[in-house]
Amino acid sequence: KGKTEPRDFLHISDFDKATILKILDRAKEVKALIKSGDRSYLPFKGKTMAMIFAKPSMRTRVSFETGFFLLGGHALYLGPDDIQMGKREETRDVARVLSRYNDVIMARLFAHQDILDLAKYATVPVINGLTDYNHPCQIMADALTIIEHIGQLEGTKVVYVGDGNNIVHSWLLLASVIPFHFVCTCPKDFEPDQKTVEKARRAGISKIEITNDPKEAVRGADVVYSDVWASMGQKEEASYRRQVFQGFQVDKALMQLAGPKAYFMHCLPAERGVEVTDEVIEAPNSIVFPQAENRMHAQNAIMLHALGL
Ligand code: CP
Ligand code: NVA
Repeated sequence: KGKTEPRDFLHISDFDKATILKILDRAKEVKALIKSGDRSYLPFKGKTMAMIFAKPSMRTRVSFETGFFLLGGHALYLGPDDIQMGKREETRDVARVLSRYNDVIMARLFAHQDILDLAKYATVPVINGLTDYNHPCQIMADALTIIEHIGQLEGTKVVYVGDGNNIVHSWLLLASVIPFHFVCTCPKDFEPDQKTVEKARRAGISKIEITNDPKEAVRGADVVYSDVWASMGQKEEASYRRQVFQGFQVDKALMQLAGPKAYFMHCLPAERGVEVTDEVIEAPNSIVFPQAENRMHAQNAIMLHALGL
């Protein structure tokens, strides 16, 4: 791709603070334009995007496809049975063929190495729509949502309750770029990847805590954040995990311990009654739907950045 600045969007920590904040500012700007009903801004006119999905999706698929269309472009959905990357065809071949048709590639895959390979061989920007390791577009949307509701991300306390999964890794990578207080509270042996925790701590930007005590962790939180206990690809462990994760459900009592200023966030899809109660998701301080909406606006800005527009 031959540019000094990375045009792929694979990990938040591939960018400096100024770039991340610039993308978030751009997201706000383009969001305001789209919400005003103005349809005259068409920077993606004449451009196409290939979207590869090895896993199911609602938000990622609909927000990318809709956002790219609203800004003038055309997106192609390639489901799990279409490309079968690594099975029907090698990743490096997929990368080079799609690069000859499309201006940008978005992919949701299992192994993180697959998106690294895709980016390595593609000659157009590659955007990570979730892997087993991380979910950078989600956490960009979450940062935008926090900025909108609290005024800024810097200095806030974000407490993630549950499995130390791909969502947590992206929070940690954001915390290695922008200063805030990030706490992950999870059952023992479900901690996030140790190397990623060390990377975030070594960056020396944010206060990072990994604990096994949810009640203590949530005190004074600005945001209590939850995700499914069994991610895509782990669904056969769901009933085992339900036992191990007892005590990590975000319920009214836990939100009360967090305190009155705490918002509730969840990347969705949620299993109501499992990692979060119905009551908490439906409460006035739950911002899960503005958060879901912001996927589209954050990603529009990520795509504009990736395409150098
Ligand atoms: N949050 C999120 O990525 O949702 P989907 O799995 O529906 O895309
Ligand atoms: N951790 C979840 C996130 C879904 C958006 C998963 O990987 O299934």
